[in-house]
Amino acid sequence: MARCWLLLLLCAFLWPAVSATPCHHHDLHALRGFAEELGGGGALLRTAWSGASCCDWEGVGCDGATGRVTALRLPGHGLAGPIPGASLAGLVWLEELFLGSNSFVGVLPDELFGLARLRKLSLASNELTGELSPRLGELTRLTSLDLSDNRFSGRLPDVFDDLTSLEHLAAHSNDFSGFLPPSLASLSSLRELNLRNNSMSGPIARVSFSGMPFLSSVDFSTNHLTGWLPTSLAACGELRSLNLANNTLVGNIPSWMGEFDRLWYLDLSNNSFVGEVPRSLIRLMDLTTVGTSPGMALSNLPLYVNHNRRTLDEQPNTITGTNNTVRSGRNNTMSGNDNTVMSGDNNAVSGSFNTLVCGDNNVLTGDHHVVSGSNHIVTNSYNKVSGCTNNVSGSNHTVSGSNNTVSGSSNTVSGSNHIVSGSNKIVTGG
Ligand SMILES: *[C@@H]1O[C@H](CO)[C@@H](O)[C@H](O)[C@H]1NC(C)=O
Ligand SMILES: *[C@@H]1O[C@H](CO)[C@@H](O)[C@H](O)[C@H]1NC(C)=O
Ligand SMILES: *[C@@H]1O[C@H](CO)[C@@H](O)[C@H](O)[C@H]1NC(C)=O
Ligand SMILES: *[C@@H]1O[C@H](CO)[C@@H](O)[C@H](O)[C@H]1NC(C)=O
Ligand SMILES: *[C@@H]1O[C@H](CO)[C@@H](O)[C@H](O)[C@H]1NC(C)=O
Ligand SMILES: *[C@@H]1O[C@H](CO)[C@@H](O)[C@H](O)[C@H]1NC(C)=O
Ligand SMILES: *[C@@H]1O[C@H](CO)[C@@H](O)[C@H](O)[C@H]1NC(C)=O
Ligand SMILES: *[C@@H]1O[C@H](CO)[C@@H](O)[C@H](O)[C@H]1NC(C)=O
Repeated sequence: MARCWLLLLLCAFLWPAVSATPCHHHDLHALRGFAEELGGGGALLRTAWSGASCCDWEGVGCDGATGRVTALRLPGHGLAGPIPGASLAGLVWLEELFLGSNSFVGVLPDELFGLARLRKLSLASNELTGELSPRLGELTRLTSLDLSDNRFSGRLPDVFDDLTSLEHLAAHSNDFSGFLPPSLASLSSLRELNLRNNSMSGPIARVSFSGMPFLSSVDFSTNHLTGWLPTSLAACGELRSLNLANNTLVGNIPSWMGEFDRLWYLDLSNNSFVGEVPRSLIRLMDLTTVGTSPGMALSNLPLYVNHNRRTLDEQPNTITGTNNTVRSGRNNTMSGNDNTVMSGDNNAVSGSFNTLVCGDNNVLTGDHHVVSGSNHIVTNSYNKVSGCTNNVSGSNHTVSGSNNTVSGSSNTVSGSNHIVSGSNKIVTGG
């Protein structure tokens, strides 16, 4: 019985320590100072942050044993003004700082880079400006860094040598310029690298990807990167998504591009590649369409489109732009001009001056197509149709082959067994 009481007493004594860790007074002071300096939604936060048990406050996380604040998660709280650096500096045990989707302005406070224990830092979707301090390199424990969707400018500092734990690096939709920092090559834990929609220039090969075995997603699209695709990328066997669209990359598309067995998204459109896309690309197994995004978007370059082996008949590609060549493949939807479908079935083609060299059951609209094969539906004007059983309407087509149904006017029809209506000029054959 006495032992039971003792146990109860012990429990009653220990219980509060488990439920509400007392807040370390240094951190309480720092948090109060932080809230004090916030504009916008800071007023609401000051009301919410009352009392002294800061570990229970909204968005605050503590170490259970020490009562030190380790996390501050305040995304989307309408916070405005500069990030209160001096107060943040007091939170020396901080490991996670999430201040995204607020209205913070100004440059990053230098004190931020003194938070040596930071593992996750998100400042995305604010209105932060200025250049990124080279002191970023001091945050060597970072696993995740998101600076996206701000107004940062200048170069990305070349200070990534010691950030070997970094798995996610996102800095898209800013105004970063200059060359890619070569020290990115040291990011040996990197899984995701997103520098999309900036003004980065210079050769993409300034970064070596060979030391990034876990790299899964790379998005450098909409920059001004130049040069050839770096061979070092071939070492990234985990690559699932590669978007290099909207740059000025040159050279051939190398055959090792076909060796990323896990790749499901590839966009190389709007670059200055030459030559043909290598046949090895048909090895890509998991290319798939996600939402409205095409599994492959390779517009404005000579194109070899085929389907991945697993879903040969299921996955239509969407091809837009000009002067594409689809050498094989089915169920492609093409729009734009000067496209060539060398073979393949069930394509829907619109635009002008398209050439379908062979293939069946295509639906063509637009003008000046060259069509052969069977069972096409051709409308509009000035198409050249050969082959069998095409249903041709519109005007000024040249139709040859057999069993085509031609209506409309001013078509030139040769061959046999056509059904011709309308006022066609020249009809030869049967
Ligand atoms: C690109 O970044 C700018 C800011 O630099 C932003 O205003 C724009 O919405 C972004 N565009 C896309 C498509 O993300
Ligand atoms: C091609 O990329 C450039 C540079 O990023 C961009 O300005 C342009 O709008 C892009 N063109 C198309 C058709 O996407
Ligand atoms: C390329 O740029 C165009 C025009 O700026 C934009 O609409 C398109 O989304 C960009 N493509 C990619 C893959 O970012
Ligand atoms: C591809 O075309 C064939 C024949 O018209 C059709 O049966 C099939 O459903 C189409 N596939 C897709 C994904 O559109
Ligand atoms: C498409 O290619 C033809 C020649 O093959 C060329 O005359 C035309 O300018 C090209 N169009 C575009 C938009 O590049
Ligand atoms: C040809 O196509 C038109 C319009 O697509 C359709 O109205 C007509 O019935 C078709 N004729 C034949 C013989 O398939
Ligand atoms: C077809 O060609 C004739 C002259 O050969 C022309 O008068 C007529 O306008 C053309 N039709 C179309 C739709 O371009
Ligand atoms: C065209 O139609 C005729 C009879 O209507 C038929 O004998 C012939 O096999 C058809 N040819 C083709 C290529 O379909």
